[in-house]
Amino acid sequence: MHVRKTWKTTVVMFLAVAAVTTVTAAFYFNYAATACCTVAPLSSSSLLQEPSNAAAADNELSRSKLVSSAVRISKLYAVCETRDHLRSPADRDRFSRRRRQADDSTSVNVDKNAGNNYSKNGESETARDGDIGNDTALIYFITPTYPRREQIPELTRLGQTLMHVSRLYWIVADDRPDCSLQIMNLLPDFSIPYTYIASPMPSIYKRDPDAMPRGVSNRRAALNWIRLNHNINDSNAVIYFGDDDNTFHLDLFKEIRTTKKISMFPVGLVGEYGVSSPIIDKGKVVGFFDSWPAKRKFPVDMAGFAINVQLLFKYPYATMPYKVGFEEDRFLSALGIRLDEIEPKAENCTRILVWHTQTAKKPKPIVMVRSKATLPGSLATLLDQVTMLGIGGVYAVI
Ligand SMILES: *[C@@H]1O[C@H](CO)[C@@H](O)[C@H](O)[C@H]1NC(C)=O
Ligand SMILES: *[C@@H]1O[C@H](CO)[C@@H](O)[C@H](O)[C@H]1NC(C)=O
Ligand SMILES: *[C@@H]1O[C@H](CO)[C@@H](O)[C@H](O)[C@H]1NC(C)=O
Ligand SMILES: *[C@@H]1O[C@H](CO)[C@@H](O)[C@H](O)[C@H]1NC(C)=O
Repeated sequence: MHVRKTWKTTVVMFLAVAAVTTVTAAFYFNYAATACCTVAPLSSSSLLQEPSNAAAADNELSRSKLVSSAVRISKLYAVCETRDHLRSPADRDRFSRRRRQADDSTSVNVDKNAGNNYSKNGESETARDGDIGNDTALIYFITPTYPRREQIPELTRLGQTLMHVSRLYWIVADDRPDCSLQIMNLLPDFSIPYTYIASPMPSIYKRDPDAMPRGVSNRRAALNWIRLNHNINDSNAVIYFGDDDNTFHLDLFKEIRTTKKISMFPVGLVGEYGVSSPIIDKGKVVGFFDSWPAKRKFPVDMAGFAINVQLLFKYPYATMPYKVGFEEDRFLSALGIRLDEIEPKAENCTRILVWHTQTAKKPKPIVMVRSKATLPGSLATLLDQVTMLGIGGVYAVI
């Protein structure tokens, strides 16, 4: 009898869990429909294509297939644009120019790429970590970003750092429901392969403005994209999360590229101690130096570790939780990391190669003008740019 009762209880509990899961799923799909249908017109046409149509369609961009497969499996984000490094410089130039004209009729059409000769295959000749070769691990550099006045300048600065790194694939995941034309206009300028994703934070996590899990939907989308698009048989790869306002020494890329499973290293300008880092003794991690341990098994900063892509496939459901402050810890725990497996980098964690710099935020200024029609010379065009980039506003009195 007792056994039977327990069995019944189990069934009831299972049904309860199933009901809750269904409600949550409904919530997500409802939300997903919003995300799907608010993407920019250019992308939504390819988003809505069936894979077979996509392949048949005129497909100079060769991205619709990727886009469709991503959207089929997870509707929580939209791939705005994917560009690979195998496109020839001439193609790249033509593509760039045409897209600028098609997308952005309001902007002044200056061809910034004219007269530029890109280096081959996106491999920068200035790469300092000159370990170019087919056996060199690719670096997936995941950058969560969000719309704000400083977004374009931050991405410009970061893109120009990443231009110096060979075998790097940049995943820019933006916390907005639609694709930003300004960002799609900017990213080709760095001549590195990239994917631009619109991955807005689900509104259920926005209720408490003091505890919003920023960047989580972005990183989850990027991890999902890698799982769908990386062929583990083809090449080895390393995943790193780098925010758009951080500062990266080029030696960092040389260090993380050799990550076999998980590597860790110090991050400067973090927390109350000025640095966050594992403590190393005889080449092994013996503890952590971080001003907010909070009972975390891995009290590390998001920019303080890199993982090998194989872990994503070994633990196919491991992802980052929407839990403020515990994103790194729970993610690393879900990947089954043990302390003795951590590979210390940056000279046994004694050199700081990445910095948590932050850009001061200032409110958006509004410029008062008498009348837009009477502005002299180039000023009207410039102020249109200022408005379009969201860095300022113009208010015409008349
Ligand atoms: C770019 O490279 C091609 C072939 O190497 C060359 O013919 C062309 O003049 C170069 N263009 C510029 C602007 O340097
Ligand atoms: C790299 O390329 C060379 C020659 O193309 C080939 O012999 C070698 O097996 C390749 N290495 C890897 C790891 O793919
Ligand atoms: C990778 O290789 C394994 C075994 O060699 C094979 O079963 C699998 O289908 C391959 N995966 C892809 C994506 O090619
Ligand atoms: C790190 O420490 C180990 C053990 O003391 C030592 O063998 C190794 O050479 C050190 N590595 C560097 C880069 O200093």
